[in-house]
Amino acid sequence: MGRSGFFAGVQGMRRNPMYVCICNALKDRQLAAASHGARNVAEVFRRCGRRPQCGKCLPDVAQLIETTRDEDQGATKLAAE
Ligand code: FES
Repeated sequence: MGRSGFFAGVQGMRRNPMYVCICNALKDRQLAAASHGARNVAEVFRRCGRRPQCGKCLPDVAQLIETTRDEDQGATKLAAE
């Protein structure tokens, strides 16, 4: 997946944190930290000690998991070189 869309990359995340999950007051950085190695959205919420409520943020959290996975794989490739 390319680095476009809502999360252009965790590394390039803005200095000012942004709320992604309004229901649980979870910010992008909190969710990004919980997304590393997460298999699904439920796992990210579990790591944050919360449960999804309205569900509007779920696609964004799923995208964040993909973004962190891409970045983690990129870091692993660089480390192997
Ligand atoms: S905005 Fe995340 S559950 Fe409602």
